[in-house]
Amino acid sequence: MPLIAPSILSADFARLGEEVRAIDEAGCDWVHVDVMDGHFVPNISFGPVVLQAIRPHSKKIMDVHLMIAPADPYLEAFAKAGADIITVHAEAGPHLHRSLQSIRALGKKAGASLTPQTPESAIEYVLDQLDLVLVMSVNPGFGGQAFIPEMVDKIRRVKRLIGSRPIHLEVDGGVTPETAPLCTSAGADVLVAGSAVFKGGHYAANIAAIRSACA
Ligand code: DX5
Ligand code: ZN
Repeated sequence: MPLIAPSILSADFARLGEEVRAIDEAGCDWVHVDVMDGHFVPNISFGPVVLQAIRPHSKKIMDVHLMIAPADPYLEAFAKAGADIITVHAEAGPHLHRSLQSIRALGKKAGASLTPQTPESAIEYVLDQLDLVLVMSVNPGFGGQAFIPEMVDKIRRVKRLIGSRPIHLEVDGGVTPETAPLCTSAGADVLVAGSAVFKGGHYAANIAAIRSACA
């Protein structure tokens, strides 16, 4: 059974604390926090102040996905704001190994994310610095996009690279009850879902539908 991490990008931002409590009570495993800078990706979301504001609304793991470049100057702010996992993009800077070391030095779990065109070899020499690999199955920047089917093969290859290491393999983008089982069969153990969790307001049923599709 995969862990489900609803992306609050699809939440009602005017009631964000309430929305975080609602997905917590609906049985999510992690809370996925999408940070966008309008530079690395063509959209702007929010920063550490908003993370800090929602942190008291759930004890669950805050899974912070930084779609920002550079990321290094902001790692400490997100750590202090209450992140448990901080994921940077392999494409966001020239020194991924250093970014991952910095995240661990802040006492947080470190993740690396790959946009759709980036081969899995980008993380081959940083595997021992990683607690999580995030395979993007859409181009980062927006919720509600269609799953890119070629990413199933990448998930499989990343899983092979990870081997027996204790590293989570997370998939983000276009995850629905239809695409979720493709991801878990290929080796994913954490699924991010924005629109598929928040649609229609039936959070518990939507989360359960994704989980049971993978059973
Ligand atoms: C995309 C974000 C995703 C996104 C997922 O840039 O990283 O987390 O919000 O949304 P859905 O599940 O709607 O594709
Ligand atoms: Zn994300």
